[in-house]
Amino acid sequence: MRILVTGKNGQLGKSIHKAVANNEQTNEFVFVGREELDLSDRNNITHYFEGNVFDIIINCAAYTTVDKAEEELELANQINHLAVKQLAQIAKKQQAKLIHISTDYVFDGESDKPYTETDETNPINVYGRTKLSGEQALQEVMPTNATIIRTSWVYSEHGNNFVKTMLKLGKERDELNVVSDQKGSPTYATDLANAILDIVQNKTFKEAKYETQVYHYSNKGKISWYEFAQEIFHITKIDCKVNSITTNQYPTSVNRPKDTVINKSKIAKVFNINISDWKKSLQACIKNIKDNK
Ligand SMILES: NC(=O)c1ccc[n+]([C@@H]2O[C@H](COP(=O)([O-])OP(=O)(O)OC[C@H]3O[C@@H](n4cnc5c(N)ncnc54)[C@H](OP(=O)(O)O)[C@@H]3O)[C@@H](O)[C@H]2O)c1
Repeated sequence: MRILVTGKNGQLGKSIHKAVANNEQTNEFVFVGREELDLSDRNNITHYFEGNVFDIIINCAAYTTVDKAEEELELANQINHLAVKQLAQIAKKQQAKLIHISTDYVFDGESDKPYTETDETNPINVYGRTKLSGEQALQEVMPTNATIIRTSWVYSEHGNNFVKTMLKLGKERDELNVVSDQKGSPTYATDLANAILDIVQNKTFKEAKYETQVYHYSNKGKISWYEFAQEIFHITKIDCKVNSITTNQYPTSVNRPKDTVINKSKIAKVFNINISDWKKSLQACIKNIKDNK
């Protein structure tokens, strides 16, 4: 099978690349970034697929700057919504399967129970709204052969993320203020990458007329950003005091959902995927950062 992975320079794209290199794969993987396939440019997308045909497209590229999306609505909508619709149209034409990554930010965060795939969506910021529009357009174009995976709080050895920011700030400062009233489940990008590779090999996914589905994936556990920071400093023995603050004490230009823990039982059951504990995965990532892997 010929498999395209978009967003090759992002956290998930790089993690899939590493996972493919670490596992023996019989499939041919093609990794592209915006240099090869610019999702902000409709004509560029059309042109790229005129010369390239795939069996599976894994879309890890996205407009992910949540704060900036409030001002760059049009660009965020193009990448997270219209380009996803176009990718779905192309996948359908090429008879390819499409795996698309979405977000917990399609929810408003007001529920006190972990969100399931059928729970009502109600995004409260531009990023969440554009990602939801992408999901909906994809489902309309491809009632079969697509898989949407919503994930949350992604971190990795690559790029910018909360873990790397804490490691940097923790070494520079004696204390840090971190919000404790936003809760969720972190996702180590390597775990998600391995889950995606498992799905690609799964016989349900391979079925000819596989009905398009939404799945949720993150690591196991429910924590606040404050608890996340504390654990990062505990593992690394960085001597930095973490002060718990509320979202109101740290005003930003964008609304963020309060509690977006997602229920992972569907993906675990359908694809037989093991959901690892957030602390174990955090330890693995920090070890890789230290070993420069
Ligand atoms: N990060 C999180 O906490 C989080 C949480 C929930 C869901 N998600 C979802 O998970 C997926 C992967 O996220 P991630 O953390 O790997 O994101 P990331 O590190 O920000 O990577 C996104 C990639 O998309 C690429 N991209 C942006 N604009 C593009 C364009 N016009 N054309 C082509 N590529 C473009 C970026 O390219 P450049 O490197 O060139 O900028 C980047 O490599 C996304 O769908 C995201 O919405 C992420």
